[in-house]
Amino acid sequence: MSVNDRIQLARGDITRFEVDAIVNAANSTLLGGGGVDGAIHLAAGPGLLEECRTLGGCPPGEARITGAYALPATWVIHTVGPIWRGGTNGEDQTLASAYRSSLALAASVEARTVAFPSISTGIYGFPIDRAASISLTTIRNSLATHPTIETVTLVCFNDANHTAYATLLDKAS
Ligand code: APR
Repeated sequence: MSVNDRIQLARGDITRFEVDAIVNAANSTLLGGGGVDGAIHLAAGPGLLEECRTLGGCPPGEARITGAYALPATWVIHTVGPIWRGGTNGEDQTLASAYRSSLALAASVEARTVAFPSISTGIYGFPIDRAASISLTTIRNSLATHPTIETVTLVCFNDANHTAYATLLDKAS
């Protein structure tokens, strides 16, 4: 199966996806926030924050893993994307690292199915088309490295993200 066959595009709320691991677009404190971070903590319940408190934060570009509590997933992988500051502060590299670290962590617990939101494209302001291109390239490279990961689902919460990914995936097919 080609790596492209292992990448799926979906619309919806990531908290409802019954996959082995969902990825959270967190901040470096790992103590919750708005956006998808807020939605995941709300749906998971207080146990998620209690576990996050034990982790001591997470630098941008890295990832940490916890249980998923009341969520249908088994794990939550918390990663911290870059805050967009114009593109000359290593944002591209940090975004790629966030996706790469998340998939390496997923592989380490033998998660077979992983769902991502569009990291950094909300509150952190990363341009959507640029983020979609970086994330797809990184995910493809990571799937080639981690054969145990069967499927990565890109969960888009709005049309702009969905269109950006659909355009790139169509080109690849
Ligand atoms: N399911 C899937 N995607 C979602 C959901 C959801 N329930 N809610 C929001 N999104 C999408 C947004 O539309 C955006 O495309 O997730 C993407 C990431 O947006 P944010 O959640 O704002 O995350 P980010 O841009 O990475 O900013 C991170 O926001 O919530 C805080 O604590 C977080 O400080 C951190 C910052």
